[in-house]
Amino acid sequence: MPLFDVYPLYNVTPVSGKDMFVYDDNGVEYLDLYGGHAVISIGHSHPNYVKAITNQVSTLGFYSNAIQNPLQVELANKIESLSGCKGYQLFLCNSGAEANENALKLASFKTGKSRVIAFNNAFHGRTSAAVAATDNPGIVAPINAQQQVAFLALNDIEGVKRELEKDDVCAVIVEFIQGVGGLDQGTAEFFEQVDALCKANNTYFIADEVQAGYGRSGKFFAFQYYNVTPDVISIAKGMGNGFPIGGILIHPSIEPKYGMLGTTFGGNHLACAAGLAVLNTLEEEHLMKNVNEISDYFISKASTIPEIKNIKGKGLMLGLEFDFEIAELRKKLIYEHHIFTGGASNKKLIRILPPLSIQKTHVDQFFEALRQAL
Ligand SMILES: Cc1ncc(COP(=O)(O)O)c(C=O)c1O
Repeated sequence: MPLFDVYPLYNVTPVSGKDMFVYDDNGVEYLDLYGGHAVISIGHSHPNYVKAITNQVSTLGFYSNAIQNPLQVELANKIESLSGCKGYQLFLCNSGAEANENALKLASFKTGKSRVIAFNNAFHGRTSAAVAATDNPGIVAPINAQQQVAFLALNDIEGVKRELEKDDVCAVIVEFIQGVGGLDQGTAEFFEQVDALCKANNTYFIADEVQAGYGRSGKFFAFQYYNVTPDVISIAKGMGNGFPIGGILIHPSIEPKYGMLGTTFGGNHLACAAGLAVLNTLEEEHLMKNVNEISDYFISKASTIPEIKNIKGKGLMLGLEFDFEIAELRKKLIYEHHIFTGGASNKKLIRILPPLSIQKTHVDQFFEALRQAL
């Protein structure tokens, strides 16, 4: 049976990984500055992670959400203490799209409204409401297009006011640092005004932290650079270091009701064990401190390269913008220098999303290769 051919693939076959590196079927080592779409947070095959998952699967891998699962409670408490999101409630699911789908659904249930405001170049996932709020008509099927979404430019505060005045908007959903779109950010003034407007209009402010969250931005959540209080915060990617797990943090004022949200696999024992290993390692190895140190180092090195016209993003969610399209440069980096990087909708931008454990020597290795490739 052939695979449904939806992915343009690089001709590399990784078979193992260790910390910042993956190794292909010929034993060639690749420096991973992409973390498989920003997923690898604590490093490939981290010993704590391997041990936690191995122990859990040999004890109890799965049971559904019909029984007590103390691992979910432990995970919720750990997220609360590391993120500082006091009193927020946790609902667990399996992916970023599912997290946003549940966030939007919750907003609609609670406000009784159904229209959404999203932003130009946004990416929120491929499920129905999430993809409708994603600014890429090519991936929105007619069945998804029935969702009503107003797309506005980042920083268009008058547009947000105008849409909210219609009193039919259940949620404003925002990536505080855009991922797939190319690392653009709104201003502090804009985000803080949107937060206030949402509160004044019975509209949920949803922070999509699927990519920027879990320490990648240099704070636990990217929204924490601003004075805002999201109603719902969606999380996924770095949360499981590769194990499929996602979730939403829900403001303490929002009351749950039995049956309102649900999932078979979300929050299973194995996923929780993976999630706990990630958070424990993030804390024990002071990885957020490392994010900030290496980010500064990376940016200072990038600013010495004349071909780089603009450095975007925060922490270890960075974009290097050139004045030419970078597809060929990325191919050279992979095939000749054995370094994985990412692309974006902005064709002139390389995305850098390494494991949060990256060291200065890895940054040096990248810039040496980049100089040669240029
Ligand atoms: C900001 C953001 N939200 C949501 C998603 C969707 O996550 P998933 O692919 O796990 O469904 C992504 C994936 O790239 C993302 O970057």
